Amino acid sequence: MADRIGTLVIFGAGGDLSKRLLLPGLGQLLSSSRGYDLRLIGVGSDPMTSAQWRSRVVESFAAGGSESARSARVANNSIYLQADVTKPADLARVLAAATGTPALYFALPPNVTILSIAALGKVRLPKNTVLGMEKPFGTDLRSAQALNRRLVRLLPENHIHRVDHFLGKSTVLNLLGLRFTNRLFEQVWSAEHIERVDIVFDETLGLEGRAGYYDKAGALVDMIQSHLLLVMALTAMEPPSSLDADDLRGSMAQVLRATRAWKGDPVASSRRARYTAGTIDGRRLPAYVKETGVTPELDTETLAEVTVGIENWRWAGVPFRLRSGKAMADRRQQIVVTFKDVPHRPYGFTGNPGPARLTISLTPDSIDLDLNINGEDDPFALDRVNLQVQFAQGELGPYGEVLHGILSDEPTLSVRADAVEECWRIVTPILSAWRKSSVPLDNYRAGSAGPTTWR
Ligand code: BG6
Repeated sequence: MADRIGTLVIFGAGGDLSKRLLLPGLGQLLSSSRGYDLRLIGVGSDPMTSAQWRSRVVESFAAGGSESARSARVANNSIYLQADVTKPADLARVLAAATGTPALYFALPPNVTILSIAALGKVRLPKNTVLGMEKPFGTDLRSAQALNRRLVRLLPENHIHRVDHFLGKSTVLNLLGLRFTNRLFEQVWSAEHIERVDIVFDETLGLEGRAGYYDKAGALVDMIQSHLLLVMALTAMEPPSSLDADDLRGSMAQVLRATRAWKGDPVASSRRARYTAGTIDGRRLPAYVKETGVTPELDTETLAEVTVGIENWRWAGVPFRLRSGKAMADRRQQIVVTFKDVPHRPYGFTGNPGPARLTISLTPDSIDLDLNINGEDDPFALDRVNLQVQFAQGELGPYGEVLHGILSDEPTLSVRADAVEECWRIVTPILSAWRKSSVPLDNYRAGSAGPTTWR
């Protein structure tokens, strides 16, 4: 365990991620019952005075809905340092400004993070320094492996927090309670009883001015390589004996190691598409290729769908379909577990509403269980009922939750090195098939449910 973190340093402090997600999450954490007191240092390549930075911090804390005496104190005492984080001398200057044990948070594009970690190797790091690294971790399998090798030379694995904010989403965490504390579900959680699992994260948002990053990533790397494969790992892993970091992350890594493109065929098991102009909720969106900063020749997909199989005793033969798209008609963000039909339905029933289905919804946070029962009017005509529970929001949002892990140096919700590499390994054959154009890039209208040919 590290000493209590004395200073949180945000690299890339002037960026969008810091403003929209990280600082609001920090504000929530500072104002929560889990409270921390720390020094905050913002670091960026652009000039900014500390006063300008402070008002930015105050604004972001307020946007996160959290203002407290503690968060105001942290904002007031915060400073901004202009630095080139790929230069050892600049990093040494930043570290000298930190008090107590520092946590260094890399809210930077992956290629800059890689250079910065290399530079950090030439600087003396204070004892028990903690690192927080944003996804995507590396730009492909090779660079992720190289980055991991560099990181272990710097610090022990349990001080390295590879952040995936989906692991801080309350409903994703609810999967653990649902699966492992109810006898009801775990007994049927296997190929024997489950037909298929769909993990879908469709957004109505388009590019939102993020071409610099997104145009090189695309939906497969942005969402499936990281968030959705980890959600799948929690959905499919073997029961860990405890929730401590080694047990939980060991179970996640084990199931990822068994995962491959469905039937080993990256072409047949994947689809990709890109949005054209359209309207969503009255908002007019230009075609993706017309967005500022986009290079059409990169053929970046904004909708990706991949079916994988988990080749182990529990899941052999069950397709796990992972899909994520931008500029879609509906914000559908859920894990849908479709059970197999019963082996025999007693003769005499009419109607067949289909097999039971469990939907774990990330937005809004809820669980729905669709079951068949006898109909109201005609007791022998089957009817569908829906048992639903909505969850209250947790005290902290996902970024508050993952920052809590980093600042208390508790790695349970951090992604372990091997899991990151497995996620890259799983998508690599798909990415290379896409690069060779073995899978066509389809089109869909912004505000639609995806390409018409996919339905
Ligand atoms: C981010 C992706 O990691 O997750 C974005 O880069 C995506 O493209 C976002 O929109 C979705 O997460 P949330 O929690 O904002 O819905």
